[in-house]
Parts: sequence; structure tokens; C-alpha cells
Amino acid sequence: MALFTRFQTLRVAAGRSLSVAPRRSSLLLFIAVSLAVAVGFPPRGGGAQAQENLVARGKYLAVNVAHCIGCHSPIGAKGQRIARLEFSGVPAKNVKRRQGPPQNVGFPGPAGMRAYPKNITPDPETGIGSWTEADFLRAFKEGVNPQGKKYAYTQMEWETYRGIRDEDLRAMYAYLRTVPAVKNAVPKNIPAKAPASKKKVTKKETKTTTEQPEKKKPATE
Ligand code: HEC
Repeated sequence: MALFTRFQTLRVAAGRSLSVAPRRSSLLLFIAVSLAVAVGFPPRGGGAQAQENLVARGKYLAVNVAHCIGCHSPIGAKGQRIARLEFSGVPAKNVKRRQGPPQNVGFPGPAGMRAYPKNITPDPETGIGSWTEADFLRAFKEGVNPQGKKYAYTQMEWETYRGIRDEDLRAMYAYLRTVPAVKNAVPKNIPAKAPASKKKVTKKETKTTTEQPEKKKPATE
């Protein structure tokens, strides 16, 4: 038959013959490729998959690398984090407490200052649920809250975190929107007290106190 003459015979190691018609093999290849596309191989980069990757990366950064979870989550008697309270900040009920781990009572600072790690869960009233991605990025880039108010110097290292790349901030924002929303109104920070005796330091005084005697040149080898 004419068709048979176009068959190629491949001899395989086992000694069996395998006949493949060129036309049929290209048809099989076409079907295989169509099927692969239909089931999503190679993996598609769009939509849901991309969001999933972003959230996973955000989790990796916020939990494993930047350790946002460490300061922003209250801890139990053994120092353990409490499931479902992660990222919810210093508990509101501890407003008067001064003794204890900073995650539970805030960080003490100079001159009676106290900074409370905030609720960064997606709760809209007490967390950062109402923050847009742009608000989040601006906080890190400029050290201001969504109302544009500058944050004071605290253990939240805005100055250091300023260098985090936008794509990493976006990932952390995406992840933080997926953690359980916790209703917890973190106490307000206590600002540093003004010193009791407001002795004015003149410019001259400042200069003399900061002036260093000329240092000797270090010995050279
Ligand atoms: C060393 C402890 C510490 C670490 C680590 C830390 N934070 Fe904070 N965070 C704080 C404290 C304290 C405040 C309160 C600052 C203030 O109110 O001025 C704060 C405030 C914030 C705020 C502002 C919330 C608001 O309501 O104004 C956001 C957002 C935030 N942190 C996110 C993060 C993220 C994201 C990370 C990880 C990249 C992180 N923090 C790591 C201690 C920490």
C-alpha cells in the first residue's frame, strides 16, 4: 500500500519495531501541545497565580526576614506567639501596664516615652485595613501616617526600612491583608516628657560641648 511505504520503521533496543507515520506523529504532537496549553503547562503567570506568589513572598519577608511579626504580635506566658492574634499589636487592656515584654506593654524610650507596636491586621477601625497600598508605601518611604503626620523616632525603624524596595513592600502589604483581622485598639504612644528645668542651651554652649580636642594622627606603620 502507498501509505505503508511512507512509514518509517524504528528499531528499538529491545528488538521490537515501532512504526510511526510522519503525518500521524505531527498530529500527535499537535494534540499534545494543545493539551499542554489547555491544562496550563508551562504555568501561566497571570492573575490568581501572580497574587498567590506575591502573598507568599510577603509572608516570607514579614515573618522570616524583616521579622515584623516579632514586634507586632502579643506573646503568652512562655514567650510564645498566640495563634490568631499575630500582628494585632499591644493588647488594649494593657494600657496601664508597664512591666512585661514590649510586645505586650510597649517599648520604653527616653524621658518616659513609650511606643506601642501597632495593630497591622486588616481590621479597618483598629488595624490598617483602611490603608491603601499607596498609604503603606508612603509610610515606609517618608515615615508618615496616612494623614501625612510624621512618625517619631521609635523602635519602628522607619529610617532603616526606607530602603526596602517597592516590590517587597507591595508583597508585605498583600500578605498583611490575608492575616486574620483582629479588633484591638492599641494604646496611644506616650511622648517623651519635656525636662523639668528648661535650661536653655545657647549656641555657644552647644558648640563648646561638642567640640573635640584635636585628635593626634594615628601612628602609621
Ligand atoms: C523592633 C520592633 C518592630 C519591628 C521589627 C517592626 N515594627 Fe512596625 N512598629 C513598631 C512600633 C513600636 C510602632 C509604633 C510607631 C509609632 O507609632 O510611632 C510600629 C508601627 C508600625 C506601623 C504604623 C501603624 C500605624 O497605625 O500607624 C506599621 C504599618 C508597621 N509598624 C509595620 C511594620 C512592618 C511591615 C514591619 C516589618 C517590615 C514592622 N512594622 C516591623 C515596632 C516594630
